Order: sequence, then structure tokens, then C-alpha cells
Amino acid sequence: MSARKIIIDTDPGQDDAVAILLALASPEEIEVLGITAVAGNVPLPLTSKNARIVCELAGKHDVKVYAGCDRPLGRDLVTAEHVHGKTGLDGPVLPDPQMPLQEQHAVDFIIDTLRAHKPGTVTLCPLGPLTNIAMAFEKAPDIMDRVQEIVLMGGAYFEVGNITPAAEFNIYVDPQAAHIVFKSPAPKVVMPLDVTHKALVTKPRNDAFRALGTKVGIAVAEMTDFFERFDKEKYGSNGAPLHDPCVTAYLIKPELFSGRYINVEIETHSELTMGMTVADWWGVSGREANALFIGDVDADGFFDLLTERLARL
Ligand code: RIB
Ligand code: CA
Repeated sequence: MSARKIIIDTDPGQDDAVAILLALASPEEIEVLGITAVAGNVPLPLTSKNARIVCELAGKHDVKVYAGCDRPLGRDLVTAEHVHGKTGLDGPVLPDPQMPLQEQHAVDFIIDTLRAHKPGTVTLCPLGPLTNIAMAFEKAPDIMDRVQEIVLMGGAYFEVGNITPAAEFNIYVDPQAAHIVFKSPAPKVVMPLDVTHKALVTKPRNDAFRALGTKVGIAVAEMTDFFERFDKEKYGSNGAPLHDPCVTAYLIKPELFSGRYINVEIETHSELTMGMTVADWWGVSGREANALFIGDVDADGFFDLLTERLARL
């Protein structure tokens, strides 16, 4: 089967970095058409720099990286340095990127790429706030029907919020954008905290990254060593949750994951629950299903796949 063509939209972020590395290590299954950076974990100048740092860490200097939106559609930017550190990639010491940013704006790259490829052949993989994707849909509504699938990390139901009591960070930062994306006709697969909190980098798993003995393996071990603090303190987790790599792993081995095709709506009015993903897991609303909402993962299988692929870089 030919590799799936994807655009990764991202706000690196240590977990974004691991998701990008997994994608770049899997050319049989994934062809990365480009990486688009968005403001999220840290401001856009850093996310667009970090995306290039990660590509160069993978030895993939020819990947095209585009800078996108530097703030949400209708709200002030909220960042997460308390989780990811002031650079957004705290942990390893990695060299500044040599590869340039592309001139074109990320939103225009998304539009042009979807228009240039046959309908249903390009998958969008948002790993941060959905601002770039929503802007592209607003600017060029014709592309919505051309999207093969949107496989995104965001939201929560049983796990509720990680940035407010009700909302997960990616959706909370730009709820208006999330509403536009979830309202779109494009088929959607959602990786919420419900599943990503089951993909924890326990010490044996971190040791396995480090035991690769490669630049990539050691850097990933150092990233997750840093990144785990927030979740360990807040949830008492047994390691860092690898949120964004669930998206890439799904593209490679969907059988590792399970969920329900349900209705998911976004709270965009109440400040109390702003950005909440109202996921009708029990089918009580009568609203039409619009997303495959993932609730479970074979965590050992996930880490076996991730470690095996990282060893290739
Ligand atoms: O809530 C987790 C999500 O927010 C992840 O994508 C992480 O990188 C941050 O963007
Ligand atoms: Ca992210």
C-alpha cells in the first residue's frame, strides 16, 4: 500500500517532537508533504524554530517547514511554558536549525496542497491548537471536501481538562478554531487525553529510548524526562503522557487504538467551560456523530512501535 500523504500541523513541544520523529522514521507508511507551525505550547517564532530543530535531529533537512498563525482566531494566546519549558523543547541541548523556513504562509500551503492533490488523498495531522486548519477552511471552504481525514490530538471526556477543569490545552487555546474544524465535513479521528494519558513514558520505556544510544534516542529520553514533571505533579502519573505521537502511531498501526464514532461539540460561549469537548460517549444527545473518539491504546504495542522506529533515525 502506498504511503499516506500528510501535513503535520504542530506546536513543538516535546511530545510534538516525538510525533514528528515517528512520522519521519516511517516512510513506508507516511509521506510528510510539509510541517506547518502554529502558536501554542510556545509562541510561533519558537514553534517554527523547534519544528526545524526536530527535522534536523532526524537528519531530514529537506522537509519543508512553514510558519502559520501566531495567535488564536478570537482570543489572546495562552502558552504552556510551565509544561514544556521556555524554549518549548527543554531537556536535550540541540543545535539551532540551519534549514530555512519556507516563505509561504502555512495556511496558504495547506490550501494549495489540498487543491494540488486528488480529493481524499491528503491527511491533516494537527498536534496543537487548530488555528491554521480553521483559517485554511475559512479562507478556502472548497478544500474541506478534499481532506482524506483529520487525525488530531485534542480534547477530553472522562479525563476532563488539563489546562482548566473542563478543557484540554489544544482546544482551549483556540475554541473557535476547534468549532470550525469539528463542524467541517472532513472525516475526523480524535486522540483525547482519555487515550493519551494511557501512553505514559514509564522508566523502563524511557530507559529503552536511552538504550538506543543514538542522538535521537538520547534526545527523546531527555525530552520526556523534562516533560513528565507537569503530569507527575498534577496527576501522579507514572511518566510523561505521549499525547501527539498517538496521532502518528494511529496512521501506522490503527489497530493499537480503539474508540467510538460519536458526536463531539466544542464549548465556545461559557468562560467556565470554554474549549470543553462535549463528547456524547453514551449517545444521549441525538446529535449526529462526527468523529471517531479514541478511548484506549495497547500501550506496550505503542511503545514497541515507537522505540523500533526511533532506532531507524
Ligand atoms: O494537551 C496536550 C496537548 O497540548 C499536546 O499536543 C501538547 O503538545 C500541547 O500542545
Ligand atoms: Ca502539541
